[in-house]
Amino acid sequence: MLENENSNFDVVIEARGRINLIGEHIDYNGGYVLPAAIDKKITLKFKKSTNSYCTIYSKTFNSSFKIDLNNLHRSTTQWHNYILGVVYHINKISPEIVQAFDCFIESELPVGSGISSSAALECGLAKGLNELFEIGLTDHQVITISRDAEHIFVGTQCGIMDQFSVVKGKKEHVLLLNCETLAYELIKVNFSPYKLLLLNTNVTHNLSSSEYNVRRNECEKALKVIQQGHRWLKNLTEISLKDLKEFKKVLPNKIYKRALFVSKENRRVLKAVKYLKNKELQKFGAYLYQSHQGLKNKYEVSCKELDFLVDFTRELPYVLGARMMGGGFGGCTLNVVHKDHIEDFILNSTKAYIDKFNIELIPINVTIDDGVRRKIEG
Ligand code: GLA
Repeated sequence: MLENENSNFDVVIEARGRINLIGEHIDYNGGYVLPAAIDKKITLKFKKSTNSYCTIYSKTFNSSFKIDLNNLHRSTTQWHNYILGVVYHINKISPEIVQAFDCFIESELPVGSGISSSAALECGLAKGLNELFEIGLTDHQVITISRDAEHIFVGTQCGIMDQFSVVKGKKEHVLLLNCETLAYELIKVNFSPYKLLLLNTNVTHNLSSSEYNVRRNECEKALKVIQQGHRWLKNLTEISLKDLKEFKKVLPNKIYKRALFVSKENRRVLKAVKYLKNKELQKFGAYLYQSHQGLKNKYEVSCKELDFLVDFTRELPYVLGARMMGGGFGGCTLNVVHKDHIEDFILNSTKAYIDKFNIELIPINVTIDDGVRRKIEG
């Protein structure tokens, strides 16, 4: 029985979620982002099967489904698409190498919370099948297979940040990733005496997936118009604020606001990195607030629950910075909080949040950890 997580498995994979310190919604605009893998994970256990089909069981959804490897197509059940998409895209690269297998999945990453449960699931599956069938996929292939699964099977035109950080993340380091070239720098970070704390709003508004593709489209529109005057420009993040101003009257106001956010957010990442390297954490924190303001007012991907939680921290001297994290419209805020005040902060923000929205707030303490790994049992 696959439901028995203790049966013998051939390969066990731990796939971590990710945080993003700063650089939101600019991965698909060829910008810089600053993510890291975290200690919260999805565990995937694999074994080869003698059946003619694969069986996938999710402990989180307490549900299973079967895959016919000769007939891979999209499902109406969204979580199946992450799995089907990965198998489909591995098949495209290495036809028929994936044979029948069983997979048991258990997740501690809350779905829709902006910590990339999707990328962890996709990359964990790709990595597990790579090990189980000795396919020989490179990290880069695991990343792009997972991203393509999300584009084509799940239907979100996501960037590369989540899959990249889930695979390349390293304990105690953040990744400064150039999303155009995929060149990256691992930067050792030490926030002490501060800690990273996520506050999960416990809401995911319907808009989260539809508006994501809309934003991407708006950025493409802006780029097309700007390229008419600046042919050399490849990505929206490359335009200087000065050059962008020329387009204030040309672009529709909404599109101009999107472009302005993208250009500013990209610059914020590079400045924030400088402060992080110099351990000027106050200044680093101020950039988190600026990023949130841009996401709220210019990019319009925040929501009242996220804004409330960020505003709640503004007058607290022991919080250096806070902002919404990930795609938006719900999910988590990222907070940099002094270690001596974490408990107070959780208590007070939870109370304020429940008083305001009558929704339970879920605090998640995170530490930066290694990305997807095969677990050697023993
Ligand atoms: C989601 C996407 C990422 C990225 C973020 C926003 O997590 O999967 O590619 O665009 O939103 O920064």
